[in-house]
Amino acid sequence: MPILQTRLAEGFAQRFGGAPDLVVRAPGRVNLIGEHTDYNDGFAMPVAIGPETRVAVRRRGEGEIRVTALNFGEEDAFVPSADLQKAAQGGWRDYIRGTVAILAREGVDIGGLDIAVMGDVPMGTGLSSSASLEVAVATAVLALAGRQENPKQVALWAQAAENDFVGMRCGNLDQLASAATVEGAALLIDCRSLDLRPIRMPSDAAVMIVQSGVVRGLVEGHYNERRRQCEAAAAILGVPALRDADLAMLEAVAADVDPLVVRRARHVITENDRTLAAAEALALGDLQAVGVLMRESHASQRDDFEITVPLTDRLAELMSEAIGEHGGARQTGGGFGGAVVGLMRNDRVEAVRERVLSDYRTPSGELPDVRVERACSGASVEIVGS
Ligand code: GLA
Repeated sequence: MPILQTRLAEGFAQRFGGAPDLVVRAPGRVNLIGEHTDYNDGFAMPVAIGPETRVAVRRRGEGEIRVTALNFGEEDAFVPSADLQKAAQGGWRDYIRGTVAILAREGVDIGGLDIAVMGDVPMGTGLSSSASLEVAVATAVLALAGRQENPKQVALWAQAAENDFVGMRCGNLDQLASAATVEGAALLIDCRSLDLRPIRMPSDAAVMIVQSGVVRGLVEGHYNERRRQCEAAAAILGVPALRDADLAMLEAVAADVDPLVVRRARHVITENDRTLAAAEALALGDLQAVGVLMRESHASQRDDFEITVPLTDRLAELMSEAIGEHGGARQTGGGFGGAVVGLMRNDRVEAVRERVLSDYRTPSGELPDVRVERACSGASVEIVGS
């Protein structure tokens, strides 16, 4: 993304003078299928997308890290340590502080740094702007420290920043997608074994992301509540995680269990099956089969996991209708609004865009943001200065 790169270089020079030692990019992601399965040790299949976070970093002598967030015109400064505290203001600062704290805990030699950050992943819309920030910062700090780490390990540390420092109990989907995806492919993630299988996107397929305009509110509360309900369901079923359960096990106890817990478990069990089936179908280029599974995934999120809202239901339905039989659409990400993802044949893109722009309005009555994305590669070190 050349404009981002130019503005980042200018911002770095203006704030700190000179040029960075290196620049790292880490993409946002959209999840094609496999929602709320990651923290149940299940399966998910995201693609990394064009919008990304870039960080420009340079070592400095003293012990302090200085950060400028160019999107907000805001700054932070702190001494790297495993005992770092959250920033009084919260927000973006804690993703960076958390990543640094986790890497310090892991014994990475961090030292003083100047960091400029800039990104174009829309925030709060289910495209993982925070994971891309964590992964970008972790990749940059590790590269400067001369540590060659597997992208999986980088992702797990970025996730630890979110879990242990920020306090959001997310799974590993977002960080693995941002760190470890391969260009031109979706990534089938086994969230337990961390086995990653790139699934090449069919050449006739397009990924469309439409923002519902429903901004997720109080998501962390809902998210952590869903997570607790899944843990309760696993305990009732006597399995380590819902990954280990099947529908027959659920049916055997259903009569004696709170119907809400049964619904939550049913979503996760069926979503894992759908994700594995979708990966097989995508690998064969069978958009029709993937589309059916995506539609079923939306219905399951709506009826069993109860994380959709009326506007994302409507948007997913009208997109699915316009897509026709070769593909489908579903709400993507943590839920309660955010974005709807559609997978379709290239030759349907304009018709689907027209349909969305004519029939859908955000809660404030505006035209929704519609973007068509290609599958990008995971985080990379872009420029190494002299
Ligand atoms: C958020 C979390 C992920 C995952 C998704 C739902 O994006 O950060 O770990 O649980 O929700 O699939």
